[in-house]
Amino acid sequence: MHNIKKYIKGLGLCLTLLLTGHVSSAQSETLNLSNEETSMIVISLVLVVMVLVLLVAFYLLTILRVMVREDGIRRAKEKGIEYVEEPSMWSKFYAGLTDAVPIEEEATVELDHNYDGIRELDNHLPPWWTYMFYASIVFAVIYMFMYHVSGSLPLQTEEYEIAMAEAQANRAVADEGSSIDESNIVFSNDPAVLASGKTVYERNCVACHKAGGEGGIGPNLTDEYWLHGGSIQDIYNTIKNGVPDKGMIAWGDVLSPTKMNDVSSYIETLKGTNPPNAKAPQGELYKEKAIEEAVAE
Ligand code: HEC
Repeated sequence: MHNIKKYIKGLGLCLTLLLTGHVSSAQSETLNLSNEETSMIVISLVLVVMVLVLLVAFYLLTILRVMVREDGIRRAKEKGIEYVEEPSMWSKFYAGLTDAVPIEEEATVELDHNYDGIRELDNHLPPWWTYMFYASIVFAVIYMFMYHVSGSLPLQTEEYEIAMAEAQANRAVADEGSSIDESNIVFSNDPAVLASGKTVYERNCVACHKAGGEGGIGPNLTDEYWLHGGSIQDIYNTIKNGVPDKGMIAWGDVLSPTKMNDVSSYIETLKGTNPPNAKAPQGELYKEKAIEEAVAE
């Protein structure tokens, strides 16, 4: 008895740990499971335990029924009467489902036709069927009213038009930005744009231009000398069309206009940052217009 108690305690502890995720987080570290996998394991363990508990409960219930039955028989014997078994839950449920007259009383519902020995019973319709029939009538009335009388819900063609309009609107949002090109790009210091540009740069450009833009296979992007022009329009143009025979990819085929816009603005912010190990200047001197104007004044 003592042992069983201990065992049950241990089992309870295991379950609580599993449910609160203590074991699961330890597990996921050692086994490298994703959160989703761990929760799947926990859920399936809980399900298994539930099924086992249900099986045991069902088994106990069967034993209980047998005992009750035997007790009933014994008592009926003592009183000297015949034992009548209580109908089981299932048979009660089934009788309620069909609402049929029991076989012993069938004579009361028999119709007076007799087709070569085939007789007909006038049983009730099964209640589940009748209620479903009534429900379908109610549904039909509501449906008719909503779709055809009040028109408050869309019919097929309207649904189609609504879906098309939605798709159009989504496309308009997705297209926003695709109108950017080298003729109309402007520098943006919006942190979101620069962050996005930085990501684009780190994913695609670092290999040749290096982390700080100091240049490697590709030229230095931080100095004032540019092979293909240093204005943001020129930079966008170089990125979009590339310099294929010199090893600079035409990113227009790979990146969206928005992404090229963002990375162009990001490159603008690299100008003049003087990173270490900078590559020697290449190309022609380019000074920002604003600076040139300031110098001229
Ligand atoms: C495979 C290597 C490589 C990758 C990757 C690369 N570039 Fe280049 N890039 C070059 C080379 C080489 C040049 C110089 C072309 C020339 O000599 O005309 C260049 C030139 C440029 C220039 C013009 C520089 C100037 O002096 O006019 C810009 C701007 C530029 N790259 C931006 C980018 C951006 C932005 C990315 C990422 C989206 C990128 N590059 C990815 C190799 C690369």
